[in-house]
Formats: sequence, C-alpha cells, structure tokens
Amino acid sequence: MKNLAGKTVLLSGATSGIGRALALQLARAEASLALCGRSKEKLAEVVHCCRDSGAAAIFAQAFDATDNDAVRQFVREATATLGSPAILINNAGANPGKAPVATQHIAELDYMWALNCRAPWVFTQACHPLMVAAGGGHVVNILSTTLRFANETVAGYTATKAACEAWTNIYRKEARRENIRVTAVYPGGTDTPFRTLERPDYMRPETVAEAVFQTLLLPADATVHEIVLRPAVEENF
Ligand SMILES: NC(=O)c1ccc[n+]([C@@H]2O[C@H](COP(=O)([O-])OP(=O)(O)OC[C@H]3O[C@@H](n4cnc5c(N)ncnc54)[C@H](OP(=O)(O)O)[C@@H]3O)[C@@H](O)[C@H]2O)c1
Repeated sequence: MKNLAGKTVLLSGATSGIGRALALQLARAEASLALCGRSKEKLAEVVHCCRDSGAAAIFAQAFDATDNDAVRQFVREATATLGSPAILINNAGANPGKAPVATQHIAELDYMWALNCRAPWVFTQACHPLMVAAGGGHVVNILSTTLRFANETVAGYTATKAACEAWTNIYRKEARRENIRVTAVYPGGTDTPFRTLERPDYMRPETVAEAVFQTLLLPADATVHEIVLRPAVEENF
C-alpha cells in the first residue's frame, strides 16, 4: 500500500460533494493539499476541516476553472508552495440545465465544454511536465455513468464529459511511458448539491471518495483504467 503522507495532491471542485469528501479523506491520510473551487466561503470551510483532519499542508485558491490562465496560475503557485504534484484529481464539473438537443442553449453548452472537458485538460497540461520531471504521477478524471447510457435531455453534459473521456483514454496511453497513471471514474447518482433535489437513495459522496482514495493507495505495478460505481436504484445500464 502506498503512503500518501506528505504527497502533493491537486484537487478541483474541493468545495462541495465528492470533492469535499475526497479532500477530507486525503487530509486524514496527511497529504499536502492544493484545493480549489469558485466559492471563497465554502473553500475556507473545507480548508478549516482539512486542517483539523490532519493535512500536512494546504494551498487553496478560489477561481473559475473555465479561466485557463487562472488554472495555470493555480498549478504554478500551488506546486511552488507544496512541491511537485504526485496526484491530480480533476473533479470540478456541472450540468447547469437539462435540455433536449434541439433547444440546448449554446452558451450553456460552451460553458459545459469549458468546465467538463477543457479545464481538466488545462490542469493536466500544467501538471504533466512537473510529473515527468518527478518521475511519475497519477491523474484521476471524474466522468459519469451518463456516458454509458442514452439519457434524453442530458446531451450537453454527456457530450462534454464524453469529450473528456476521449482525451483521457488517449492520455493514459501516452503518459504510461512517463510513469503517469490515468484513471477515469464513472460515478452514478450521488447525493450532492450537483442537483437541486436531495436523493438519499443515491450514493453518498464519501462512498465515491473512498473508491477513488483506495485506488490512489494501490502499488505502482497496476493502473486502474476505470472505476464504474452506481447506487442500487440506478437502472441506466
Ligand atoms: N452527483 C452526481 O450524481 C454525479 C454523478 C456523476 C458524475 N458526477 C461528477 O462528479 C463531479 C463532482 O460533482 P458533485 O456531485 O460533487 O457536485 P457538486 O457538489 O455540485 O460539486 C461540484 C464542484 O465543482 C466546482 N465547480 C463547479 N463549477 C465550477 C467552475 N466553473 N469553476 C470551478 N469550480 C467549479 C464546485 O465549486 P463551487 O461550489 O465552489 O462553485 C464544487 O466544488 C463532477 O465532475 C460531476 O460532473 C456527479
């Protein structure tokens, strides 16, 4: 089992849901955390909890991940403070509104493209040379089980996550030569502020975080390509 104590982990979308649960789990493992999200208030609360839970060090910055320069600046400043990233978890994502393909707002589609596909790409590009220089690393991209089923009115979200899946699969092949492991995570319904309706019959964010966390602990002789996990109520498979 790998020890994450003192390892630098960059995590997007750390202020809520799955990301917040992951931040706390990694703090308990005494990792050094670089956390981001948009909300300064929520970020301050997570930083406080992670400090209490045992994080070795914390760097936090609030910004919109659709701003490429802000992402690059975050990676630059976080790694200058905490050291080279051992792990990058691209978790920030959103589905701002369901709509049929025929009436999808194109401005919303552009936003989802920037957040769900381009931002993790920019994060990965910024971390890649640092991981190469350090002799390896692990990139985890949070996708969705929507990619495994044709969900009417979810085309924009599905398409932008599917575009992220496409480059994730190619990057896994390219990066293995540099000792960088790439894992795609496909959560099914998870009870988080991702949707306005509470869903106690869905997975808890802590459960999804635990699955990701256990993957990070595996020895380096295996790469977990994919994790697919669903609540029992989900029938989209
Ligand atoms: N919940 C589900 O059922 C489900 C299922 C499959 C996949 N997923 C995926 O799991 C990931 C985490 O979702 P969640 O359920 O934990 O949702 P959540 O509770 O809504 O958390 C989303 C996180 O992403 C951040 N974020 C959203 N837009 C952002 C932006 N423009 N710039 C920077 N950060 C932004 C949010 O930060 P702020 O709150 O500070 O803005 C928040 O920390 C997402 O990629 C989502 O697509 C979720």
